[in-house]
Amino acid sequence: MKNIFVLGGSGFVGAHVCEQLVRAGWQITVPTRRRRHAQGIQHLPGLTVLEMDVHDEAALTRAMSGHSAVLNLVAILHGDATAFARTHVQLAEKITRACAVNGVSQLVQISALGADPARAETAPSHYLRSKSAAEAVLVRASAAQAGLRVSVVRPSVIFGANDQFMNVFAKLQAIFPFIPLAGADARFQPVWVCDVAQAVVRVLDLPPAGSGVRIWELVGPDVLRLRDLVHMAGVFSGAGGGKGRPIVGLPMWAARIQAFVMELAPGAPVMSRDNLDSMRVDNVATPGMPGLAELGITPAALEPVARAYLGR
Ligand SMILES: NC(=O)c1ccc[n+]([C@@H]2O[C@H](COP(=O)([O-])OP(=O)(O)OC[C@H]3O[C@@H](n4cnc5c(N)ncnc54)[C@H](OP(=O)(O)O)[C@@H]3O)[C@@H](O)[C@H]2O)c1
Repeated sequence: MKNIFVLGGSGFVGAHVCEQLVRAGWQITVPTRRRRHAQGIQHLPGLTVLEMDVHDEAALTRAMSGHSAVLNLVAILHGDATAFARTHVQLAEKITRACAVNGVSQLVQISALGADPARAETAPSHYLRSKSAAEAVLVRASAAQAGLRVSVVRPSVIFGANDQFMNVFAKLQAIFPFIPLAGADARFQPVWVCDVAQAVVRVLDLPPAGSGVRIWELVGPDVLRLRDLVHMAGVFSGAGGGKGRPIVGLPMWAARIQAFVMELAPGAPVMSRDNLDSMRVDNVATPGMPGLAELGITPAALEPVARAYLGR
């Protein structure tokens, strides 16, 4: 029996991964802070939802007992240095220690394109620094725990029917006559959520291959600037009579003021200063790194998929 413990399984990517894991014959446990967050997946056969605090190491270690594999999708996009360290780095430390106690044989971590465990200190944002430091935790665990196979997948920005990316840009264009856009020329290589989910399932099924952490960069076929993506979201959703709203690229000083104001508003900001810092480096694949092709997956292009879900 293949048993997997999926932290963050209730989220946007996690729900797609859980669906594909069920199809591949896995029994799944998903811890969640609130049971209602897992409403979208609790109907899946062979999936158990556990309401618990994953940051409580003793509880986490107990809950992971009996699982041969662990997948970590927990992440935050906004917060201060302490929140990023707790959610990304300290949680990775707790997970790797719990893997050792429970004799877990496989750990897969969803990281992010741009993370680099060898250069955690010099990454441009809290998000990328903490994602890099979390990968460094896994590198150390992989070296110290002979029985633990560790894989890291690093996706670019992920699109799909329930994303908080193309959908947000479409909604903004339904409301506002023009879009003042920070980081308009930042480049991304958006990847479809179903391709990411399929990749995770394939990584879990790979035979062991040597020591060290195996890394996969997951990207789609097209490199697009943020302004192109926002324009596509407007056009596909029919905003501005199907032409999309005019986009006004902001200089960095104005972008930081805009992000600061957004951070003060209630709820998750559309863009934070830390997001702007992340966009200082292009979010595109590194030449020569293994990715979807090596996992036998042909990545879907954004246009037909996003046109379908934004046009509904
Ligand atoms: N979406 C993208 O475009 C994108 C791009 C690159 C990389 N990634 C990576 O892919 C992974 C999944 O992303 P996603 O978009 O699916 O994220 P998401 O929808 O926000 O889901 C994240 C999950 O993490 C859990 N979580 C969030 N904050 C937590 C906290 N403070 N403590 C404990 N659990 C917490 C939540 O579970 P409960 O609410 O059930 O507790 C939630 O289900 C992340 O590692 C992210 O960095 C995403």
